Amino acid sequence: MRNPQSTKNVDRSKGKKVGGELPPKLPGLRHFLRSVASSQSQTALSAVGVQPWETVVTCYSAVDRFFPACGLFDLTEGIYHGNPNLPFEQAQANQHDYLLDQVRAGPGSRMLDIGCGYGTLLARAKRLGVAGVGITVTPEQVQRACRNGLDVHLLDYRAIPREWDGTFDGVIANGSIEHFVRPDEVADGRSDDVYRHLFATVHRLINPASPTRRFATTTIHLLRSPSDPRAVLKPPSSFHRGSDDYHWSVLEHGWGGYYPELGQLRRCAEGYFDLVEEVDGTEDYRLTSEEWLRWVRRALRSSRAVMIGFRSLPVFVRAPKQFLTLLRGFLSSESWNWQFRGPNPPTRLLRQTWQYRERA
Ligand SMILES: C[S@@+](CC[C@H](N)C(=O)[O-])C[C@H]1O[C@@H](n2cnc3c(N)ncnc32)[C@H](O)[C@@H]1O
Repeated sequence: MRNPQSTKNVDRSKGKKVGGELPPKLPGLRHFLRSVASSQSQTALSAVGVQPWETVVTCYSAVDRFFPACGLFDLTEGIYHGNPNLPFEQAQANQHDYLLDQVRAGPGSRMLDIGCGYGTLLARAKRLGVAGVGITVTPEQVQRACRNGLDVHLLDYRAIPREWDGTFDGVIANGSIEHFVRPDEVADGRSDDVYRHLFATVHRLINPASPTRRFATTTIHLLRSPSDPRAVLKPPSSFHRGSDDYHWSVLEHGWGGYYPELGQLRRCAEGYFDLVEEVDGTEDYRLTSEEWLRWVRRALRSSRAVMIGFRSLPVFVRAPKQFLTLLRGFLSSESWNWQFRGPNPPTRLLRQTWQYRERA
């Protein structure tokens, strides 16, 4: 199996100097100014010619200041096997094992994690002897993962270098696809192009001679769409609080991204991958999101609140509107949790496994 040698050439945020020279005797201020600068630093990403979507980068820069401080290092659903009392960590470990099993990852195989967060799946893979590579769009996630000895790069999936072609046995995208399409692309009828490009990209990354050649995804899908894709671009205040469009607008302005419709990914995978497994994980995402809400609320009521507030300040300074929308959407309107709640939730979380198809 070839090694993606070019990973050495891809810029990492780790150790990257941002914000220029700062006063040497003010470590607190220096740290704060660096944080403001690094939270808006997309230099490494734009250097490879792709400008990531700023809403998404800001969203995760904010999350990166809250979740780890609350002891949360996983950013997608766990697998509860119908047992809501299962500990969060066990549910997350179940999800990692499920995904690694889906791509048939084992000792000696190479796996790419697109949108790897803090690298918890990669860490699990490493313990199994799998050589894992991760990409993500926030410097904070890269730094945390690299500190833990993982091979993680600040890289938008659209800018993955050609040198990585044919170097992986399996690819995983666990909760990142939701961010790849923008509402204006949906309104202009271009969302299929984005997903097709994603499948084509993953197809070229997989080693055609590998015995496994699988792509595993977990993606929130739309069951009840917004009234109009462009409507979600209007601010939440344009809608009746609590209405579907209100929640969609909060999610768009806070998190960024437009979910695929049922069947859309399958249609766009045609010619590249065949869908070989599909599992509904909506209830798992509901349980996980309720757990997140409890953990974050508990942390904000504890003595850690001051530290979390201070750590969040750089993102608040840079993007106050989005920061407050995220807080509101998570803690007050509970728009994040809304999407999985009730007997008829507006979304469905699908875990899908795709088998590489030979190109004609
Ligand atoms: C919901 S989090 C999931 C993180 C991780 N997979 C987990 O389960 O904890 C989404 C991840 O996708 C990444 N992401 C979003 N857009 C991306 C893009 N265009 N290219 C690469 N990663 C992206 C984010 O940085 C974040 O790490």
